[in-house]
Amino acid sequence: MPIAERLSTDAYADHVNPHWVKLLGLLEMNVSYERCVGTELFTADGRRILDFLSGYCVHNTGHNHPAIVAALKDELDKSGPVMLQSNVPELAGELAERLVKLAGGGLSKVFFASSGSEGVETAIKFARAYTGRVGLLSCDRAFHGLSCGALSLMNGDYWRKGFGPLLPETATVPFGDLASLEQELATQRYAAFFIEPIQGEGGIRVPPAGYLKGAQDLCRRYGSLLVADEVQTAMFRTGPFLASHHFGITPDMVVLAKALSGGLVPVSAVLMSDAIHGSVFSSFKRSIVHASTFSENTLSMRAGLATLDVLEGEKLGERATQQGMELQQRLDDVLAGYEMVKAVRGKGLLLGIEFTAPQSIMLRAPFEAFAKIHPAMFGQILVMNLFRDGGILTQICGNDFMVLKAAPPLITTSSQITEFVSAVRNVVELAHHPGAFWSQALGMARRAISS
Ligand SMILES: Cc1ncc(COP(=O)(O)O)c(C=O)c1O
Repeated sequence: MPIAERLSTDAYADHVNPHWVKLLGLLEMNVSYERCVGTELFTADGRRILDFLSGYCVHNTGHNHPAIVAALKDELDKSGPVMLQSNVPELAGELAERLVKLAGGGLSKVFFASSGSEGVETAIKFARAYTGRVGLLSCDRAFHGLSCGALSLMNGDYWRKGFGPLLPETATVPFGDLASLEQELATQRYAAFFIEPIQGEGGIRVPPAGYLKGAQDLCRRYGSLLVADEVQTAMFRTGPFLASHHFGITPDMVVLAKALSGGLVPVSAVLMSDAIHGSVFSSFKRSIVHASTFSENTLSMRAGLATLDVLEGEKLGERATQQGMELQQRLDDVLAGYEMVKAVRGKGLLLGIEFTAPQSIMLRAPFEAFAKIHPAMFGQILVMNLFRDGGILTQICGNDFMVLKAAPPLITTSSQITEFVSAVRNVVELAHHPGAFWSQALGMARRAISS
């Protein structure tokens, strides 16, 4: 077929990922976006969608923030040394200085990389080098990334199957359970315990009071490093700069990524102490023993600095706290009494609405039938409805399909929160009656089977 006659998504389907195109089609979410500004996404067919997913916590500063875009344009206009790899990239020093100051807790050095997974890989290597131990401990339902090392820290079969053998001497413990953690750490096999202070893909799970502090004490007692994976939770997403700050812990390493560069340039950063850093970079001969081509590139560093300016200048942490409380309260209010709504939880603007299987007979039958087709079916119908009828973009959690995310950019306004809450209430109301919601599920199941 001549190129001009092909659909704009055909080349992607032919050469990148046909199944993704099919899935988006099934969910009626395969639309073309023309402009993304702040919390709003404008489609080629004239719709306006509110983003309550933020690219999985990438867009804390909103889409295409003008100050970050201007900083990047300015950097490009300079024709400076973007990836020379033979100089001292001064902006990396500036960004590192600001990050460790915001993080506090004795973190003083930074290794920059390009993705969350690469940050986690870095933390694995540094933890092993520092402790001389091999083992790596993490939590049930964690999400740490899909490169082989990061994947070794995740226990979901869906993600792991077919990619083994992964790293040896890894184990997971239930999130929030100090006794199981102590049992493992006491073996003194583990270089590090990796944890998301609030689990993102695991279902926006907030740990029980005292758990993270207890985990830190146990790590120190048994000689394992505490690594906070704050890829989703940092950059003021939950209110403070790090979610760790809610819980009074001072991790030995912190992994940042996603929102660090305003959603415009890939970047990640691993914050650590001098001592941990020195265990890898122990002499000038070893000054490049851990490195990465795109690490410290000028565009990422400049975007990172501009992003911090926006986050601090617009007080987006305080805003996340206030708007998060408003969003949580209003969701609690409108969803009270619906039998399938179990809880609204989270911190700041990282919230999740947890659903549960219905008890009433008229809803139980269709719910169970669709759960048998695919456990994510119920959640995906919610997502599809919200998108199509409510003009809301969000998703369910990757490791808990019964939790719907509410994580807009931190600049979200009260009227956008009103729109979201009303759209969620409408779809929840629909799901509590036999009829339209469940027949849509049937339609989707049929389309899935025939495609
Ligand atoms: C908590 C957490 N850690 C690590 C990662 C991996 O990041 P990336 O996709 O940038 O490799 C993710 C990705 O969603 C994440 O949510």
